[in-house]
Amino acid sequence: MENIAEALKRNHQTHLLDALNKLSGEGYEKLKKQIEGIDWDGLSVLIRDYVMKKPVTVIPADLAPASYFPLLPKDAEQEALYKRAFEKGVELIRTGKVAALTVAGGQGTRLGFDGPKGTYPITPVLHKTLFQYFAESLARVSEKYGCRIPWFIMTSELNDKATRDFFKSHAFFGLPEESVCFFTQGFMPAVDYSGKVLMSAPDSIALTPDGHGGTLLALRKWGCLDRMKALGVEYISYFQVDNPLVPVANPLLLGLHALENSEMSSIMLSKTNAFEKLGNFCVTGGKLQIIEYSDMPKELAERTTNGKLDFIAGSPAIHVISRTFIERLTAGGRLDLPWHRADKKVAYVDANGTEIKPESPNAVKLESFIFDALPLASATIILEADRKECFAPTKNATGVDSAESCRAMLCARDARRMGVAGIPVPRKEDGSPDCTVELSPRRIFDDADAVEFFRNHPVSAPERGACAAYE
Ligand code: UD1
Repeated sequence: MENIAEALKRNHQTHLLDALNKLSGEGYEKLKKQIEGIDWDGLSVLIRDYVMKKPVTVIPADLAPASYFPLLPKDAEQEALYKRAFEKGVELIRTGKVAALTVAGGQGTRLGFDGPKGTYPITPVLHKTLFQYFAESLARVSEKYGCRIPWFIMTSELNDKATRDFFKSHAFFGLPEESVCFFTQGFMPAVDYSGKVLMSAPDSIALTPDGHGGTLLALRKWGCLDRMKALGVEYISYFQVDNPLVPVANPLLLGLHALENSEMSSIMLSKTNAFEKLGNFCVTGGKLQIIEYSDMPKELAERTTNGKLDFIAGSPAIHVISRTFIERLTAGGRLDLPWHRADKKVAYVDANGTEIKPESPNAVKLESFIFDALPLASATIILEADRKECFAPTKNATGVDSAESCRAMLCARDARRMGVAGIPVPRKEDGSPDCTVELSPRRIFDDADAVEFFRNHPVSAPERGACAAYE
């Protein structure tokens, strides 16, 4: 108690001590535990550098676009490499060297959905949730390749219990329970503009998830790296909970990663416009780096050569990461990724216990980003992918990157697969499906699965305006 009091005094956070002294019983213990869990001297340095002044993102003078493996191989040699890589990737999956990792600790405020984002109903016909969609897809890949892909799901304090309960109440969507491993990311206190840590309730500090950069340390802290090692997992297929179109394991990316001795590899998409909200793949000092869309200077974002954006390579946040790379980065239980400041509206209780809901940003949240590990890798590769086959983020309720656009993209991908399987789907003048179709990820992981499925389950072509699911 004495130590806490000293630490809080030294770091100008005595209002927390006052709050603590007003409590007793459970509330007292809860707040005390939270206060004890924070490195106050370390936090003070961050408050000085990120809250009391606005850090300026320094754009290095040598910043250049990153090179990448193109979607279609550029020559026969590259074609042969892609073939070998694909086979290698399949072998890695088959032999149990691949785990899936979903980051699902975010708050999903933009979607306006109350609950873990993974519990959001996303599919266009059966309204399967994001978690169910990934679970079924992982079950299919495991079945297809005769292996069991362990699935690591990162939650945060805010949604951990709700996430676990959701899986339990849905019997893990048919996955063996022991193949799903939840782990919780760290948190950071929200700090107001005067440098004071905010309280969300009389017995609680306003805690926010520490960003998906926290994944790496959390994997070590919760024993997930050891568990992976014991299972023989060497490569981690990383994706975000908001993107159901992502292939949960990408043989080509996995294979290229392994053949090129990469430590961290990424999928890239051609940006639709200079300001699309995607991180930008850049190179500086010979190292790969992602500059977040919000930090990219306008003139660089807009720069073109022969009518094409220079910084065309956007990140859909799909990576392959070597387990040994994370072990190396987090050795000693520490990892110093840079922090990023976000100005947010954070509801809080004041000294009188009155709840305040601010109308405009009143506090800073600090987050670290997983892609800031890229420059720390000894080798990296980037592979271009077709957006229509891997990226339909659910960020907003309507409009761009919304649940609506995601459903349309899932339907379009499935309609294309039905076409490949010889079942024509009625189309509108603009080429989009004139019906709503949904293929089961439990049965169909790729085009070959679609052909096989419809060979065994012949169906007639859907009619215009139809709404049909194929399970
Ligand atoms: C993110 C990427 C951006 C990328 C885009 C693709 C960042 C900072 N930027 O943007 O480069 O082009 O996705 O869709 O991530 N999450 C946690 N814990 C946290 C914070 C986030 O698990 O503390 C998870 C979320 O649950 C979500 C993902 O990380 O799955 C992305 O977070 P979000 O805040 O939605 O990032 P974006 O700004 O959309």
